[in-house]
Amino acid sequence: MAISFRLRVSHPSLIRLAASRKVNFMNTTMVDNRAAVDKSGDKVRRMFGEIAPYYDRMNHVLSLNIDRYWRWKTVKRLAPVAGEPILDMCTGTGDLAIAFLKATGGKSEIIASDFCREMLDIGEIKKKKLTSGEQITFIEADAQNLPFETDRFSIVSVAFGLRNVASTEKGLSEMVRVARPGGQVAVLEFSKPEWQPFKAIYGWYFHSVLPRIGQSFAKNDSSAYSYLPASVSQFPSGEELAVKMRDAGLKDVKYYPMTFGIATLYVGVK
Ligand SMILES: C[S@@+](CC[C@H](N)C(=O)[O-])C[C@H]1O[C@@H](n2cnc3c(N)ncnc32)[C@H](O)[C@@H]1O
Repeated sequence: MAISFRLRVSHPSLIRLAASRKVNFMNTTMVDNRAAVDKSGDKVRRMFGEIAPYYDRMNHVLSLNIDRYWRWKTVKRLAPVAGEPILDMCTGTGDLAIAFLKATGGKSEIIASDFCREMLDIGEIKKKKLTSGEQITFIEADAQNLPFETDRFSIVSVAFGLRNVASTEKGLSEMVRVARPGGQVAVLEFSKPEWQPFKAIYGWYFHSVLPRIGQSFAKNDSSAYSYLPASVSQFPSGEELAVKMRDAGLKDVKYYPMTFGIATLYVGVK
């Protein structure tokens, strides 16, 4: 809350925003999210390539650092076993992969894949700062066509990435394919808080404030931070996504809403 207040009074985009008559606190539908979001690979890759240098900072600022907690909670729930291989796909700059690496004491093979070179390059820089002996391999790969053999990983994860993959079904089926029988497939993704008044406040922040701050910081042409709320609105959450995971061949699918339902962790077993 303290960070939020400082941002509100200090950042020029927020001052402009506060002055804007377009912003209506209770009207959370003013951003039109009904038009289908363009998730073509080239567009998504270019968009993340443009925001890569700002991605980590923006993540922590816009989520008030709660994104770190979500990844920590994900690792805690999945309880990786040291020595067992892990794949984090759509890894971006590698934060979840690095969290796995730390949790397994550097004893597991961690593969971090993404189709955006610029995001992986930031991950490589972060990797160099890790204690020597800890191993993580960044690989450029499309989530819909993973270059790994079937039944390979004990954990296959994706954090805030599946929503961006052109075909959710293809992304899930690839995750399931490369997981070993008995292995865990985990999806951490934004979801939609249900109860008022939090829903209204969060809706206003997510649909009106966040895109403007994001755009102002990132200064990219692809409207990445308008894409964010639009893509979340259109992505299945809760039971709807759990059904897709079961359809992809997973069993014991459970989901765990976090932080009033802003994000949800879904876990299934192959
Ligand atoms: C919102 S970022 C999430 C990054 C990271 N997992 C995190 O938790 O911060 C989404 C990532 O998914 C990647 N991505 C989207 N579609 C992809 C695809 N089809 N194949 C591989 N990566 C993809 C993007 O390049 C981007 O790095």
